[in-house]
Amino acid sequence: MSEKETIKINVEDLTLIFGKRKQEALVLLKKGVSKEEILKKTKCTVGVNRANFEISEGEIFVIMGLSGSGKSTLIRCLNRLNEPTAGKVFINGHDITRESNKELLETRRTEMSMVFQKFGLLPHRTILENAAFGLEIRGEKKELRDERAQNALETVGLKGYENQFPSEMSGGMQQRVGLARALANEPEVLLMDEAFSALDPLIKSDMQDELLQIQNKLHKTIVFITHDLDEAIKIGDRIAIMKDGVIEQIGTAEEILTNPASSYIEAFVEKVDRKNIITAETLMFRKSTIVQLKKDGPSGVIRKMRSVGLDVLPVEDENKRFLGYVWLQDLLALVEEKKTSIHEVLKTNVPSVYKHYTVEDMLPLISGIKYPLAVVEEESGRLLGLVSQTSLIIESTRFGKKEVDQLIEIANEI
Ligand SMILES: Nc1ncnc2c1ncn2[C@@H]1O[C@H](COP(=O)(O)OP(=O)(O)OP(=O)(O)O)[C@@H](O)[C@H]1O
Ligand SMILES: [Mg+2]
Repeated sequence: MSEKETIKINVEDLTLIFGKRKQEALVLLKKGVSKEEILKKTKCTVGVNRANFEISEGEIFVIMGLSGSGKSTLIRCLNRLNEPTAGKVFINGHDITRESNKELLETRRTEMSMVFQKFGLLPHRTILENAAFGLEIRGEKKELRDERAQNALETVGLKGYENQFPSEMSGGMQQRVGLARALANEPEVLLMDEAFSALDPLIKSDMQDELLQIQNKLHKTIVFITHDLDEAIKIGDRIAIMKDGVIEQIGTAEEILTNPASSYIEAFVEKVDRKNIITAETLMFRKSTIVQLKKDGPSGVIRKMRSVGLDVLPVEDENKRFLGYVWLQDLLALVEEKKTSIHEVLKTNVPSVYKHYTVEDMLPLISGIKYPLAVVEEESGRLLGLVSQTSLIIESTRFGKKEVDQLIEIANEI
């Protein structure tokens, strides 16, 4: 997300009900009647149930959930391919649910484009003509649409294929054309519904990398639907998890893993490899006893160690910059020698990490050392907190959150 966030999409109490007796179903929904009951009573299907969220400019917002949870219905409400039954959808601050057809067409033309799972390429048109198709139906001049389509094809790595036909392209390449067609419109918002789901795993992974690269360059606002949790974690700045039309939780992958909102979410994310997701910021403890190099003498530090039951403590300078560690046995030697400064026993050759380091980044650093890892602020070098070896080792296992919490509790007791 960008530093200064502009809200690009804002969804308020968005509800979509399929069927004839929508209003009746809506009343029941507001009373808290379940999707199942509503279907029984009114023959209406609740597609989306009171969704609320904001998406910032430049953000990749992933919507995930099992089949039938309402992902497509929700994303299609964002450009009104589906007509919301209730609620509001603001794009760039204007409520598109209130727009006339003419205004809506203009919004779609200038503000968003969609990429579908089925690429929907026209077989008898060249790749260039396919990429330019969106612009063509908008009545843009040939020169402009060819130029933009050409640029978009280049962006997705298809330069040189302009005159080929879709049947001559692999699935991955066809989806690149689909993406180029959306990009050629130069939309601010890209809506991608399972755009990579039909691709082979390796090609899918390439496309994910490609999308992230494109995003680094173009900074679009992207709503990306997937039912693949690994894909959601790789692609998404934030993830919304849906169940039965309801958004159960929205957060970063790390927030969702460390703080699942319900037992459903917990089960959903149980099998995820946490090593690449959990960061130093989440694991560090902040309230550590710290030694000040200039202020604290050997016996003072020994007293501090006794009071917290540790034999090693971090040391900082007068500007709170992390310097290294001192050990009890070295301090005892200093006291015996009647020295007053701890300078000479300060060990500065120790690893430290930044708060965005993941467990995977940190694990190699703890082999052969017997003290916690210092987390320092990137710009100032100030000590932010410490990550214990125990928490790193526990997080590196593939246990779910419950087990991890239990293990950390046990580790803290022994
Ligand atoms: N046109 C429709 N008419 C009636 N019910 C529909 C329609 N489209 C979707 N639904 C229902 O709405 C609910 C949400 O469907 P939706 O297609 O949004 O799910 P999804 O999360 O996109 O699933 P998938 O992963 O299979 O694409 C489902 O219960 C589905 O049966
Ligand atoms: Mg769908």
